Amino acid sequence: MHLLEGKGVSIHFGGLAAVSDVDFYVDEGEIVGLIGPNGAGKTTLFNLISAALEPKPGEILLKGKRINGLKPYQICRLGIARTFQTVKIFGSLPAIENVRIGSLFGPLNRLSTMEATKEAIELLEFVGLSDVASAPAKDLTLSSQKRLEVARALATRPALLLLDEIMAGLNQTELLEAMELVKKIQKRGVTVVMIEHVMKAIMGICDRIIVLHHGKKIGDGTPQEVANSKTVIEVYLGEASDAGD
Ligand SMILES: Nc1ncnc2c1ncn2[C@@H]1O[C@H](COP(=O)(O)OP(=O)(O)OP(=O)(O)O)[C@@H](O)[C@H]1O
Ligand SMILES: [Mg+2]
Repeated sequence: MHLLEGKGVSIHFGGLAAVSDVDFYVDEGEIVGLIGPNGAGKTTLFNLISAALEPKPGEILLKGKRINGLKPYQICRLGIARTFQTVKIFGSLPAIENVRIGSLFGPLNRLSTMEATKEAIELLEFVGLSDVASAPAKDLTLSSQKRLEVARALATRPALLLLDEIMAGLNQTELLEAMELVKKIQKRGVTVVMIEHVMKAIMGICDRIIVLHHGKKIGDGTPQEVANSKTVIEVYLGEASDAGD
């Protein structure tokens, strides 16, 4: 059984088919890349999986159980966490509080405040933010704010983590660190779906890549299969394949 599966997942905004009849799956332990041109429907698909939006029509299954119609907090407690393309942190709160919120309110079995603090300290170290634990989140660099969202998401103890462009705008050193972080998350036992435009990262760490274009799935395969797909090259890679170099 797949960890996550989508069947005919669709959503329309007025006349725009933002996501259209997309079948997909994610297996436990994978790092799956979700790529495609701007406006392809990638973030919208994350919004559908995390229940910010409801598919119409279509079905989303987590470990074989239908999850559409649930509330976002229920999805979180079932083990799906996410980050946001435009970061959504609690800016005036210290970084560590942002993570503690994940620990305290995310998991089904809530932690005590002491356990939450301990976990937040460990997660800040895990994402490389121990030095700024007490700083207001808004004072962190954008790249650190993205890491903070990763820590907060991990604090909810997900089985599946959805990362929406955590590598955008990073320099080469930061990019390698971010790739390393995603591999470390996988080693921790968390399955990852990552939206990225940075091809170096996608090709370097993904086990499988799903490609969207105008809301439709136009590719699904290993990095090599996708890189060699004529359709994918035509609509996306032709232009973007150098983007991460
Ligand atoms: N809530 C909404 N209401 C109306 N249109 C929307 C809404 N959310 C997304 N869209 C539209 O749906 C399409 C897909 O948007 P989406 O944000 O999913 O693209 P994306 O693949 O994440 O692009 P990018 O790489 O630029 O982040 C776009 O045309 C967008 O304008
Ligand atoms: Mg997006």
